Amino acid sequence: MGRRRFFSHFLRNPRQVGSVTPSSRWLCRRLLGAAELSRCECVVEYGPGTACLTRGILERLPPGATLFAFEVNEEFVRALRDDLPHPSLAVVHDSAERVVEHLAAAGFSGADCVFSGIPFTTMPRDLRLAILRATHRALKPSGKFILYQYSPYLLGRLREVFGDVRVEFEPRNIPPAFCFVCSKRVASPPAS
Ligand SMILES: C[S@@+](CC[C@H](N)C(=O)[O-])C[C@H]1O[C@@H](n2cnc3c(N)ncnc32)[C@H](O)[C@@H]1O
Repeated sequence: MGRRRFFSHFLRNPRQVGSVTPSSRWLCRRLLGAAELSRCECVVEYGPGTACLTRGILERLPPGATLFAFEVNEEFVRALRDDLPHPSLAVVHDSAERVVEHLAAAGFSGADCVFSGIPFTTMPRDLRLAILRATHRALKPSGKFILYQYSPYLLGRLREVFGDVRVEFEPRNIPPAFCFVCSKRVASPPAS
């Protein structure tokens, strides 16, 4: 699925898709570089869209590892299943806040790493909090949450939930993007 189709999905549902075009290769490389994917056995991606980051994750995973890709857009889900058959890829047609249930149902106690391209700033506050808390629960103790956003708005909330957050900036993307690399802390996140 190309950029034109991606743009048409943005026009139909701008809040859910969140961007006019898929992420650039520079942004994808920066995100991929934040994880030691060759040592992972269970990785999650939220909002794979047209799979620009998904392909990079799959290239770097060791044989036998699993990538769970959560996508709410039905057409993106269909295209991922049709165009990207890969033994490591499990496409989940569901929203990110149900990550813990899906991992448990597949027999995984936690993820080594969660990548996200979903637009947190345009979603309702309760859903945003539910996804961040679920992500914290879904990660193994040494796990990382690696995401990008087009503003630093989420940083305070990420620090509350995850403790340690490293911030990077990638100007070679439309629009330029902030990358956040969150390391799971041992204490549980605040309730509100
Ligand atoms: C900005 S696009 C990112 C696409 C791709 N990862 C990239 O970097 O180009 C955001 C994607 O997140 C998906 N999305 C939005 N809310 C979601 C949710 N709650 N759970 C899973 N996917 C979601 C949208 O359908 C869309 O495919």
